[in-house]
Amino acid sequence: MALLEIRKFPAPVLNKKATPVSVFDENLHKLIDDMVETMYAAPGVGLAAPQVGESKRLAVIDISSKDEKFPLIILINPSIVRAGGEVEFEEGCLSIPEYTARVKRSENLIVRALDRQGREFEIDASGLLAIALQHEIDHLDGLLLIDRISPIKREFFKKRFKKSQKTEK
Ligand code: NI
Repeated sequence: MALLEIRKFPAPVLNKKATPVSVFDENLHKLIDDMVETMYAAPGVGLAAPQVGESKRLAVIDISSKDEKFPLIILINPSIVRAGGEVEFEEGCLSIPEYTARVKRSENLIVRALDRQGREFEIDASGLLAIALQHEIDHLDGLLLIDRISPIKREFFKKRFKKSQKTEK
């Protein structure tokens, strides 16, 4: 296994709609394993393939914390089949370091996806898992959390980002 480079805003791959996975071979399994390792090392609760430069509809999620353990979820070609309620949560993203913003999401949802063998399964999610699923599926559609906040907040983010780029140089 190997750690992958996490692409940061404004890398173009993060804004691209990713392509469905159609081949479930060793290369895919290696990418999945590397993404899992990279997510745990970061550490993060989720990582989507575009974040490691692979424009594929694939993401890994593990919302476990110190106090509570949850299973690792591997999502391939996911789709939201039902969503309800509304919740607001302070989100962060490995591709936008040192930034968090409150994002409105559905409170509960059913997601249909394929596992690493290409078998279909469904997740009935609420709480943090529902938020993580929507965040990662957004990545597959080329959307970042800054695309989910108000235009004013987005402008503020972009100004702050430009400023930080200047001070780095
Ligand atoms: Ni993210």
